[in-house]
Amino acid sequence: MDPIGIADGIFWVGAIDWNIRDFHGYSTYQGTTYNAYLIMDEKITLIDTVKREFADELISNISRVVDPKKIDYVISNHTEMDHSGSLPRVMHKIGEGKPLYCSKMGHKNLSKHFPQKWDYHPVENGSELTLGKRTLTFLETRMLHWPDSMFTYAKEDKILFSSDGFGQHYAGLERFDDQTGDAIMPHARKYFANILLPYAPLILKLVDKVTEMGLAIDMICPDHGIIWRKDPAKIINAYVEWSQQKPKRKAVVVYDTMWHSTETMAEAIVHALGEQGVDARPLHLRTNHRSDIITEVLDAGAVIIGSPTLNNGLFPTVSDFLTYMKGLRPKDKIGAAFGSYGWSGEAVNLIARELEEMKYHVIDPGVKIQYVPDDKTLDACRELAKKVADALPAE
Ligand code: FEO
Repeated sequence: MDPIGIADGIFWVGAIDWNIRDFHGYSTYQGTTYNAYLIMDEKITLIDTVKREFADELISNISRVVDPKKIDYVISNHTEMDHSGSLPRVMHKIGEGKPLYCSKMGHKNLSKHFPQKWDYHPVENGSELTLGKRTLTFLETRMLHWPDSMFTYAKEDKILFSSDGFGQHYAGLERFDDQTGDAIMPHARKYFANILLPYAPLILKLVDKVTEMGLAIDMICPDHGIIWRKDPAKIINAYVEWSQQKPKRKAVVVYDTMWHSTETMAEAIVHALGEQGVDARPLHLRTNHRSDIITEVLDAGAVIIGSPTLNNGLFPTVSDFLTYMKGLRPKDKIGAAFGSYGWSGEAVNLIARELEEMKYHVIDPGVKIQYVPDDKTLDACRELAKKVADALPAE
C-alpha cells in the first residue's frame, strides 16, 4: 500500500500483513498491520519500523516520500519484533550512525535483540526532541505492555503515537476510524483483552495522568490497525471501561468434551442461565479460539469451566485455556467447574483450584458425573446455574 498523508508533513509508511492468522497464540482472522510513521521536518524522523519480513515494503513506502538516507532520527517506541524487526535494515539503509531514540528499557532490550552498536539516545519520561517546526515529547508507558514501551507525542500536531496502545489486529485498506466506523471496535476490544488486560490498573493511571497533564489529543496513531482521528476519545473511553472490568449479568461457559457428557452438562447450564436472564453461551474449546473466549470473559461476571478427566488430569485444551486466562488476569469473577469422568474424576477439583488461585469466588464445589449425565446430574447443573445467576449483578 502507498504511503498515506495523515497530517501536514506526517505519513503512514507501514505495512499490511493480510495473511497472518496466528500472532503468538492470538487468532488474527483478519490479519494485522505494522504501522510506522514518517515526519517530514527539518529533522526527518521515522517512528517505529515493521516486522522484519516487511522491511522492503517499509523502505519502499519511505522512498516514495523521501530518500531514506535523508532520515535524521529514528524513534523506537517498543522493542517487540513486530515493530523493531526491520531496524537493522532501516539503520543500514539510512546510515548506522544516525541517532536512535528509545526509552532506557528500550535501549537495554534492543541491545539484547540486536548486536549492532547503534547511536542510542535513551530518553526520560517527559523529555523533548525538537525536529524544527515540531517538538516531540516522550512518555514512558512502562509495562504497557513491555518494560520498554513508550508513547511519542507531537505537541504542535496534537498527535499521540501510541505504540501498541489503542491498536487492533485488523488488515484493511482503511487507515482511519471514520472509514471503518464502529466495525473496528470488536477488533480493538479483542486486542485489549488479549494484550493489555493484565495491565488494566496501569491504563487507568495513565489516562488519569494524561488528563491531569491536559494533553490535547486530536489523533491517536497506534502501531496496529486504524488511526483514531475522528473520535480519539471513543477509544480512550472504551479503554477506561474495559480496564474497569465491571461484571455484567453474563456467564461464559467454556468446556471440552470427549463423548458429549461434559457437553450435555454445559448445555444444561447455559439453558438454565438463560432462563434466569443471564447472557450465556457454551464455548467449545475446539471450535472457539482461546483469544475469542477471553474477549467474551472481559465483561462476564462468571466463568464456568467444564472438563472431562483424562489420564487423571484436565483435558489438554482446558489446561491451555486456564494457563492463558491466568496470565491475562481478568478479575472479580464468579467461578464454577463441572465435568464427567470414567474412574478417577480429578478434573473438576483441579479447575476449582485454579479458579481459587485467580481469587475468583468459587460458588460451588462443582458438578461431576461418572460417564453419562442422568436427570439428577442435569438437575445439579441447573442448580449450579441458579446459584451463579443469583450471585450475578441484576441487569
Ligand atoms: Fe505490536 Fe508488543 O508488539
